[in-house]
Amino acid sequence: MDILGIDIGGSGIKGAIVDVATGEVKTERYRLETPEGAKPADIAETVDQVVKKFSYRGPVGIGFPAVVIHGVCYSAANIDASWIGINADELVGNVTGLPVHTVNDADAAGVAEMRFGAGRGIDRGVVIMLTIGTGIGSAVFTDGHLVPNTELGHLEIRGKDAERRASDAARKRKNLSWEEWADRFQEYLETIEKLFSPDLIILGGGASKEAELFLPHLFTRAKIVPARLLNQAGIIGAAIYAKEQG
Ligand code: BGC
Repeated sequence: MDILGIDIGGSGIKGAIVDVATGEVKTERYRLETPEGAKPADIAETVDQVVKKFSYRGPVGIGFPAVVIHGVCYSAANIDASWIGINADELVGNVTGLPVHTVNDADAAGVAEMRFGAGRGIDRGVVIMLTIGTGIGSAVFTDGHLVPNTELGHLEIRGKDAERRASDAARKRKNLSWEEWADRFQEYLETIEKLFSPDLIILGGGASKEAELFLPHLFTRAKIVPARLLNQAGIIGAAIYAKEQG
């Protein structure tokens, strides 16, 4: 079954048609800039342009950078604060005229990695997927089951939100070398290990395509691997989510 998956991020809104049975991305990825300010009406309009680009009619899965419970947004770290309390399924559904199913972006990416990527076949133990991009997203799995809406990017480290110090945006903002950034991320991983004792850590998000530059500087008890689906994971996972809700 082919479903349109859309990944809404701090800098881009990306979509593609996904075969949810195989995880295969069947079209080119279409990317538009996230509108300035990331306000609800503007984002809904941009999503509609992605839908139109594919001339798509059917359920749409959206990965969104916020806590999302039954379609309603409950946080807004890197998007406009007016998202809080908004039912994204309804808003985007009304603009596109299609059934829309919205899920936290890191949860979407994690589900895709567990099914078709670095976590494939792992149905025992604790797996934590971390997405490194504008923010830090997390998806926690126990015996293959997702614990939804974990927000481990907002653990406090040195009195600051972890993602303010250790996201890819922080690396760029501070002009850090990969090694300097890895020192910060190492400190973050130590906190994660202390609190959750995972068996496996999967690193995804935009930075994961540069994994060979920073993985040699990271040391964890848990096995640590880069995501396999790279920046397609969010799109694939969003499509899977739409299929499972529909
Ligand atoms: C948000 C999360 C999101 C992550 C990655 C964080 O700032 O709070 O909900 O998953 O960024 O986009």
